[in-house]
Amino acid sequence: MMIAGNWKMNGLSADGVNLAKEIASAVKETKRTCEFVVCPPFTLLSLVKKALRGAKVALGAQDCHTAEKGAHTGDISPVMLKDLGCEYVILGHSERRADHHETSALVKTKAESAHNAGLKTIICIGETLAQREAGKTIDVCSKQVRESLPNDAKAGNTVIAYEPVWAIGTGKTPTASEVEEVHAQVRKVLSAKLGKTEAGKMRILYGGSVKPSNAKEMLALEDVDGALIGGASLKSADFMAIADNAGCRC
Ligand code: 13P
Repeated sequence: MMIAGNWKMNGLSADGVNLAKEIASAVKETKRTCEFVVCPPFTLLSLVKKALRGAKVALGAQDCHTAEKGAHTGDISPVMLKDLGCEYVILGHSERRADHHETSALVKTKAESAHNAGLKTIICIGETLAQREAGKTIDVCSKQVRESLPNDAKAGNTVIAYEPVWAIGTGKTPTASEVEEVHAQVRKVLSAKLGKTEAGKMRILYGGSVKPSNAKEMLALEDVDGALIGGASLKSADFMAIADNAGCRC
């Protein structure tokens, strides 16, 4: 089970360090069996890395460029993220697909560069409300997985996150059977690409208004291997409660 926090564009130095320290001590205090990841904004990566010292919490970034280095003003390369101590990078989040016109083809190239730099990727997919209402959810999500998945994808370096755009930050979530339907389809697309065994091992996270109150139901579903959490990952108590409700404490 993976519990990953996407802090998005939130947090100044003091907040970020406090949040990371709270998560680090909560993870150290109690034996928890989840794989924890926190993905702060670029500006906090070094500080959070230091604050997490000694805790089994991996550091992730929220995006990277395709190139290792060069004339790309304002961008950050995967090699730089690796150098800062990142283990993961989120790619293709719907906010980046919308705000920065990122295509699945670009996400795929970024993922291959990230893997070359030694990072693992969390690749996001998900339909908009209009697409769901038009009955296109399965087609849209399948296409995004097929087109975003890097050629070197395997369970050890790639995680998929299904995040319906309309569920992000809205308090709305798909029903259990809607989540199961998409996750099963993602697994099917992965199987066709990677074979059944490798696809079976690849983690598929659910994201979109995950909270302590719905974590138990969401994370018990077939083919749901964890959560990618936005708003609720900014409060350590909520983040840890989601992990606990997912059965991560032993
Ligand atoms: P919320 O948990 O705030 O809905 O955000 C989900 C998300 O976008 C995680 O990447």
